[in-house]
Amino acid sequence: MNFNVEKLAAIRTPFYYYDTNILRQTLDAINTETQKYDNYFVHYAVKANANLKVLKVINEAGLGIDCVSGGEIEQVLKAGFPANKIVFAGVGKSDWEIELGLDKDIFCFNVESIPELEVINEIAARKGKVATVCFRINPNVGAHTHANITTGLAENKFGIDMLDMERVIRLAQSMKNVQFKGLHFHIGSQILEMDDFIALAHRINELQDQLEAIGIKLEIINVGGGLGIDYDDPQANPIPDFKDYFEVYHKYLKLRPGQTLHFELGRAIVGQCGALITKVNYVKENAIKKFVIVDSGFTDLIRPALYDAHHKIINLTAIDEATRSGKEHTPQQVTYDVVGPICESSDVFDKNISLPYTRRGDLLAILSGGAYGEIMASSYNCRKLPEGYTSEELGE
Ligand code: LLP
Repeated sequence: MNFNVEKLAAIRTPFYYYDTNILRQTLDAINTETQKYDNYFVHYAVKANANLKVLKVINEAGLGIDCVSGGEIEQVLKAGFPANKIVFAGVGKSDWEIELGLDKDIFCFNVESIPELEVINEIAARKGKVATVCFRINPNVGAHTHANITTGLAENKFGIDMLDMERVIRLAQSMKNVQFKGLHFHIGSQILEMDDFIALAHRINELQDQLEAIGIKLEIINVGGGLGIDYDDPQANPIPDFKDYFEVYHKYLKLRPGQTLHFELGRAIVGQCGALITKVNYVKENAIKKFVIVDSGFTDLIRPALYDAHHKIINLTAIDEATRSGKEHTPQQVTYDVVGPICESSDVFDKNISLPYTRRGDLLAILSGGAYGEIMASSYNCRKLPEGYTSEELGE
């Protein structure tokens, strides 16, 4: 990411800063890879970031969209996404959300239970419509990631058990106001081991064989999202390895003629284009620690507190000063805990990290904050929600 420290310093902190150049390069990389396969469609998982300015750039790149609530559907329509590119997932859709999806003629409902299928059929009948549905199947495939963000195990609340798959498909086929089109899966998030996606591909192959043997054909296969990003060294790896990712599915998933393969990537698309910009309010030390106390907290970026996630932190002011002074001057490195102002001990961004000597007023960037950052902000402690600005807006 590029930071114009002078321009950023003029904005009230904390705020999210989105580098639209990185975002566009990421989207180009995705389009370059998926264009190799004429039946691959990527739906951006808007739960990762629903900032309108970010959504507009993603829409311009022609991606489809994955929503999990009525609010998300409203937001993406506002951003200009066509309704016929919306897939709508979620374990507990409310009636009004189903109605909205039907009214807007979305591409597909990803259905997670029989009771939900019945309600969709009922509401569609009332409206004289036919809802396109896929079933989210729980593939019982583990992902090597944080326990809070693995979703594809039998113990997780998501999806329909594989053992019930045939029964629910038969049930859908017997209903007048739903049309069964295919299967949906999602095994977790921040997955960096391609073996996990290979395991999912193998499982889908088994399920397809099983269904074909009883004459059930699928038009749509949706493998969800989950591709991770490099939180440790985002500057070196701003764009995930999409080539590898799509090749895995091309190599291992046996698509039948006419089938389309759908992806729901969130983090991999927006994660590296965003950073939380925060100002140092105080630096204090006790007998064992030096604390950098910043003006943002877990209300702005909850990932470290909630998932023990690591986000790289850099001191923009110190880097800028070093660059201006001709680079030969390397500022002294000091070990700090970077903490927020919220009255909870979990309000810590990172511990024992090495930063250039840091003073009150310095601007820090907490990197890789484009996904699950701004969108998960809260107003706990009556704090203000962070704004989001793009590089474009700042004339960068
Ligand atoms: N599809 C479904 C059905 C999902 O549940 C998710 C994410 C995605 C797609 C997009 O996954 P991605 O490509 O972004 O990994 N707040 C957590 C992540 C929660 C992910 C929830 N589901 C975090 O900050 O790590």
